[in-house]
Amino acid sequence: MKITKICCIGAGYVGGPTMAVIAQKCPQIEVTVVDLNAERIAAWNDADVDNIPIYEPGLADIVAEARGRNLFFSTDVEKAIDEAQIIFISVNTPTKTYGKGKGMAADLKFIELCARQIASVAKDNKIVVEKSTLPVRTAEAIKSILDNTGNGVQFQILSNPEFLAEGTAVQDLLQPDRILIGGDASAEGQHAIAALVGVYSNWVPADKILTTNVWSSELSKLTANAFLAQRISSINAMSELCEKTGADVNEVAKAIGMDSRIGPKFLKASVGFGGSCFQKDILNLVYIAKSYGLHEVADYWEQVIIMNDHQKRRFSNTIVRTLYNTVADKKITFLGWAFKKDTNDTRESAAIYVADDLINEQAQIAVYDPKVSRKKVLADLDYLESRTAAANANSIVSFENPYEACEKAHAIAVLTEWDEFVTYDWKKIYDSMQKPAFVFDGRNILDRGEMEAIGFVYQGIGA
Ligand code: NAD
Ligand code: UDX
Repeated sequence: MKITKICCIGAGYVGGPTMAVIAQKCPQIEVTVVDLNAERIAAWNDADVDNIPIYEPGLADIVAEARGRNLFFSTDVEKAIDEAQIIFISVNTPTKTYGKGKGMAADLKFIELCARQIASVAKDNKIVVEKSTLPVRTAEAIKSILDNTGNGVQFQILSNPEFLAEGTAVQDLLQPDRILIGGDASAEGQHAIAALVGVYSNWVPADKILTTNVWSSELSKLTANAFLAQRISSINAMSELCEKTGADVNEVAKAIGMDSRIGPKFLKASVGFGGSCFQKDILNLVYIAKSYGLHEVADYWEQVIIMNDHQKRRFSNTIVRTLYNTVADKKITFLGWAFKKDTNDTRESAAIYVADDLINEQAQIAVYDPKVSRKKVLADLDYLESRTAAANANSIVSFENPYEACEKAHAIAVLTEWDEFVTYDWKKIYDSMQKPAFVFDGRNILDRGEMEAIGFVYQGIGA
């Protein structure tokens, strides 16, 4: 089948960049990205491409090139479904906040809504692609909805999970380690797989396109995220032991990473992992294991989350303990609020939880993040519902300038590894602070020797 029109439901961190790259690499295919959120679509269509709603290095250039040519952003979901041969579902699948599985299972209500809408609109055969991260066997539910509520047309469901990481999304999409496509073993299923392989083949080498059955593909996504997060919790667990024993976690990470069986990546000790995926997907995995009665499997993976929560709490406890057991009315400056560098995304950022702990201790928090607005910082804190919005607003201020943010601070906490933090004039910052001037480096990006030479009391992670 020659693919000329595709649509993507969900113009978020995955749908937007993924479709922009498909459009750039496949000028012969018309790509329409739709969303219920009119504000988000308007931002994607903003005449000034720097105002698109998601910050990713290189993304604005790609959108500028393809938008209006063969890349379109719209709120007309039905029209896009009607016209497309392939429909990607890229909507959010957050952790459930109600009912059975609350706090663990993935909330699939947005997925089901998409399936019902596709079923009611489609007047010819469609390939429906799960791009969102989903519990294993979700394709079965989607198929049942499509077949039972549709207009008698044929649907093929493919699983095509996305492995991009934020901050490097464009690079990850242009040069993926692999593309995974799961589909049905039937002739129609294989035909659908071939159509999607055809799209990716425009820029991804054949040996990097892996095809599997649907369930393997769905489960591989949760497995990949669980393994990645597990490495971080493992090195973070060692960081606490390093602090007790005189070992240095950076040296330990280097030493073990040179073992080719372990490898050097994803071994950076930190204040704890954040982001919209790791915690949500592991909780979902734990829930699935429990639902099959696999309690040892569930406990094993849950420990990754327990360790991560401990690491965040340990960081705030260290700040309080070091500041003579009280931070009440002290100014503590956060450098960074995003969950990692090069993104404006703050979902599950460690900064939110550390700030919440410190505000409980009546600290005054000042925040500087090059890409995160004060509105977002406050919204993140309010979402925790630890105190009133007014109390949050009284406890936290955001700055546009890092030097002003650090003035008269008792301590600085580095929460995100933005490159610019390393290049600051730290002597100037030191001179403007209360003494002793403390730095808690939750990302181990600053040089201990240089910081101590200036006069800071420096504390990193795991050393
Ligand atoms: P997001 O919240 O940024 O975007 C989802 C969008 O879907 C929102 O704009 C929302 O308005 C829209 N939406 C929801 N229901 C809709 C409907 N019925 N019709 C039209 N639009 C609808 O989410 P995201 O970060 O892009 O994640 C999407 C999926 O991809 C999730 O399952 C996530 O687990 C997975 N994923 C995310 C990442 C990542 O780095 N963010 C990476 C890989 C996979
Ligand atoms: C992750 C997966 O990497 C990606 O494949 C998947 O598609 C979505 O989830 P993302 O959450 O965007 O991507 O970023 P990632 O680079 O994985 O970082 C997640 C968190 O772990 C961040 O808070 C990061 O700072 C932290 N991290 C990462 C560490 O603390 N140490 C490390 O060594 C690596």
